[in-house]
Amino acid sequence: MKLSNFGIKFTRQSGIGQLMKDLGNANAKSKNTICMLGGGNPAGIPQAQTLFKREMELLMESGEFQSMLGLYDGPSGELAFREALSKYLNQEFNWSIEPENISLTNGSQNSFFYLFNLLAGEMPDGSKKKILFPLAPEYVGYADAGLSDDMFKSVQPKIELHGDNQFKYRVDFENLSVDDDTAAICLSRPTNPTGNVVSDIELEELARLAKQYQIPLIVDNAYGQPFPNVIHSQTNLHWDENTILCMSLSKLGLPGARTGIVIANKKVTEAMSALSGIITLAPNSVGAALMTRLIETGDIKCLTNDIIKPHYLDRLEVALNLFNKYLCNLPVRLHKPEGAFFMWLWIDGLPITSNKLYERLKQRDVFVIPGEEFFIGIDDNWKHKSECIRINYAQNNDTLEQGFKAIASELKELF
Ligand SMILES: Cc1ncc(COP(=O)(O)O)c(C=O)c1O
Repeated sequence: MKLSNFGIKFTRQSGIGQLMKDLGNANAKSKNTICMLGGGNPAGIPQAQTLFKREMELLMESGEFQSMLGLYDGPSGELAFREALSKYLNQEFNWSIEPENISLTNGSQNSFFYLFNLLAGEMPDGSKKKILFPLAPEYVGYADAGLSDDMFKSVQPKIELHGDNQFKYRVDFENLSVDDDTAAICLSRPTNPTGNVVSDIELEELARLAKQYQIPLIVDNAYGQPFPNVIHSQTNLHWDENTILCMSLSKLGLPGARTGIVIANKKVTEAMSALSGIITLAPNSVGAALMTRLIETGDIKCLTNDIIKPHYLDRLEVALNLFNKYLCNLPVRLHKPEGAFFMWLWIDGLPITSNKLYERLKQRDVFVIPGEEFFIGIDDNWKHKSECIRINYAQNNDTLEQGFKAIASELKELF
């Protein structure tokens, strides 16, 4: 098969692609014996699943089931859902958005592919523009989402040490340069992989810079407010005409519904809709249909505040206890866990790379994610880049204990 440039770019093996295959194979082969702390799956929370099942039954009993599966929505996605969501967001955050400010996609990953390629890459005058990540490590799913090569740039963060065992990345504004080749500023908040929540003050400064250079600020809110609300620090959720806020139903427990939500000014929404019409005709209707009533009645708040948030807080507490039990006497620091469901461990002075540590843990049937790939666009000379691993702590107690024990034992051997 002779491949086009597009074909070559999108079929070549990426580090993270290989890793995800590895994790997928491990899951498929021996679900019961392996300790899976890799991957980005949300927890299967029984109470949440019961609620989704009830909503599906209500849809099946009503005529809406037929329209959910039997009709194409418009390219911006289901209107009733966009009406309910705009009303809800206006009430909750005192905004004044309309359904025309919302477009739906087949998941956030799909939203970012559209947004990055709408704004960056080769421009009509032949110049090239890039998406700026003000802080890396950043969500690895962005790294290969550009149609052209070299579409992203990022800035090494400042590291703030907290007590003996924690640290936090901060945006290094002194070294952050927005210039003519910057198409947009983009960050995930809470951040996958670190659990960082960029502060309101940092975000305000990024928004100011974006406005000054007349470029959008893209905020990936996949774990944030109002749903799934897996965020443990007190922060504001801001939106204005220059902000593109991306949300998703995945981390609420519905990754299979493939629903991404983009809140932006009407010009961006129209552009997203045009792309959607050409590339997928219409976005998936299932997630929108399932969520509309929950949003209209406000039941979404019970789902997030009484079920999802406490579940992840409980998981975090277990993981923190295990960190203190097994790792705190080793040269390991934990990124301050402020949101999402990942622990980001920095093994200061790790004698091998985190990729090699991943391989060694794999021999013990323990799967984590090595940190290298998340440092998108960061120089290899920064040793820190190969000293971090990510753990998904949305797992049961036994799995977490097995994992922390194995990491501690491996690190004791190495040090
Ligand atoms: C920060 C972040 N953004 C976007 C996504 C993509 O989510 P989805 O395409 O399932 O909406 C993920 C998935 O793990 C993520 O962690």
